[in-house]
Parts: sequence; C-alpha cells; structure tokens
Amino acid sequence: MDRRAFLKSIAIGTAAAGVAGRAGAAEKYFPVKVDQGLFETINRVKNPSSKTPIEKTHAPVITAPRTVKAGEPFTVEVAVGETIHPMAPAHFIEFISLEIGNEPAARIDFQPKGYLSPKATFTVTLTKEAAPSGKVTLLAHERCNLHGYWESSFDITVA
Ligand SMILES: [Fe+2]
Repeated sequence: MDRRAFLKSIAIGTAAAGVAGRAGAAEKYFPVKVDQGLFETINRVKNPSSKTPIEKTHAPVITAPRTVKAGEPFTVEVAVGETIHPMAPAHFIEFISLEIGNEPAARIDFQPKGYLSPKATFTVTLTKEAAPSGKVTLLAHERCNLHGYWESSFDITVA
C-alpha cells in the first residue's frame, strides 16, 4: 500500500468511526425511537369526532364551565388525555400550562417518578376587562418527552 492509499484508508475509517460513534451516543441518550415529526410542530386534534390513539392520550382535555360570571371564581381542570397519559421514568408528561387569552396564567412541571397523574386544577376569576368581546379562549399545553408538544383550546363566555 502506497502512502496515498494508506492516508485515504485512515481518513475513511476515521469518518466512519465518527458517524458510528455519534449514532451510538444518540442511542445512549435517546434509547427509545420517537417520531421526530411530533417535535417539529404544536400538535392538535385534527378531527374531534374521531381522535387518533395518540390524540386521545396526549391532547389536553380542558374541563370548565362554558359561561361564567365576571368576578366569580370557577374551576378549570386540565388533564393530559381522555385516557390519562402514563407517568414513568422513560415516558412522562413534563409540564402542563394554561394561558388565558394571550396571557400565560400557570405552568406545572412534573417529575418522571410516576407519583402524580398528569392532571391540574386551577381556580380562575375572569373580569369584564379580560373579555372585551364577551369571550375568552383558554389554551392548555403539555409536553410529552416522547410525543412532543400538544395544545387544546376552550372558549368561555363571560357574562
Ligand atoms: Fe407520550
């Protein structure tokens, strides 16, 4: 083997080892194969009358009154999924957040120990100023470590 062929074989071998090393490192830190497409956007239910299995377990479910009186507190519950999402060290909900109109209102972070169900209850009081058109939209978000960022909305009339 001449010097040129020898150097070329070293360069190719080094590049191949680098690629293999990076793939190995990625598998070390991300041992479960995930659909990367779920992490490229905000996921929402596409057709509420026929939710897919992943939508049923990941889209936040907002439970609140459809009409409230200004100045009177009411309860908003946000659950992750119609079927409550699992909470285990390898697959869990990282947080639930609630926005009222365009205002961030709350965020709850979960630890992946499995002690808590991914559900949160908030006490909300809306004013007339918060709903100049008479309506307010609640937005709930959650993030699953394997299935990305999800959003649901809920309209409330403020009387
Ligand atoms: Fe998930």
